Amino acid sequence: MAQSADAQPVLVRVEGMTKEFSQGTRSLRVLDGVDLTLRRGEMVAIIGASGAGKSTLLHCLGTLDLPTDGGIHFGEQDIVQLPPPQLAQFRNESIGFVFQFHHLLPEFTALENVMMPAMIGRVPQREAMARAKEQLAAVGMSPRLTHRPGELSGGEQQRVAIARALVMRPKLLLADEPTGNLDTHTSEEVHALMFRLNKEHGITMLVVTHNLDLAHRFPRVIRMADGRLIGDTTGDRAREADARAREADQAGS
Ligand SMILES: Nc1ncnc2c1ncn2[C@@H]1O[C@H](COP(=O)(O)OP(=O)(O)O)[C@@H](O)[C@H]1O
Ligand SMILES: [Mg+2]
Repeated sequence: MAQSADAQPVLVRVEGMTKEFSQGTRSLRVLDGVDLTLRRGEMVAIIGASGAGKSTLLHCLGTLDLPTDGGIHFGEQDIVQLPPPQLAQFRNESIGFVFQFHHLLPEFTALENVMMPAMIGRVPQREAMARAKEQLAAVGMSPRLTHRPGELSGGEQQRVAIARALVMRPKLLLADEPTGNLDTHTSEEVHALMFRLNKEHGITMLVVTHNLDLAHRFPRVIRMADGRLIGDTTGDRAREADARAREADQAGS
C-alpha cells in the first residue's frame, strides 16, 4: 500500500536560509529566509518566475554554494558547519544534481561520465564501472555505453546525466529545469523516468520546472517569489495523490 508522504522521516530541514550576493557596494538578497522540510521519498516541484531564486535555492541546498545564513540539517548534522573536505565528501555521497544542460564531459563516453562521481568518491574502478552500468541500465541507456555526449540525442544526454547523478546512490536528487532544453515528448519521457526512479528506489527529488503541466503532477508543489516560498501545496495534492495510489493498489490486488 502507498504510504502517506508525511508518515516518512524527515530527510533534510532547511532553516532560515538567506543568500546575499554583493553587487559593488550593495548587496542583493536573493534568498530571504527560506524554511523547507523534505521527507524521505518525496517528489517536490519548485515553480516561480525567472529570477525568483529557484536555482540559488537548489545550489545552496546542495552546497554547491554556501548560504549567507541559515542551516541545512540532514539528521542531527548541520552540513553548513562541516569543514570543506567533509562537506565535499558529503555532497559527493549524498546529493545528486541534474541541470538544464547536461554538463557531460564531451571527451568521455557515457559510461566514463557516469563513473566520474564514483571515481572522485574513491570507489574502486571495477565497482565504479559496475555501478555506472547499473545506473545506465536503469535509465535505459545500456545500448549507448561507449557513445560520447555529442553522439547522443538531448533526451539521451539527460538520461546519462541522471544516471551520473545517481551513481553514488544519493539520498537527494536536485534537478534544475532538467527538461528545460527538451521538446515536449522528450520532457515527458524524462519526467516519467524520474517518477519511476522515485517509486522504485525512494530517492527524494526536488525539481525546478517552468512547465506547470509537469509541475502539477508532483504530489507537492512549492512556489517561489522574490527569494521566499509563497506557496506549498503539500496537503491536498499529496492526499489526492495518495488516494489515487491507494485506488490503483486496490484495483491491482
Ligand atoms: N552569482 C550571482 N551574483 C549576483 N546575483 C546573482 C547570482 N546568481 C543569481 N543572482 C541573482 O539572483 C536572482 C535569482 O536568481 P536565480 O536563483 O538564478 O533565479 P531563478 O532560478 O528562479 O530564475 C536573480 O536576480 C539573479 O540575477
Ligand atoms: Mg534558474
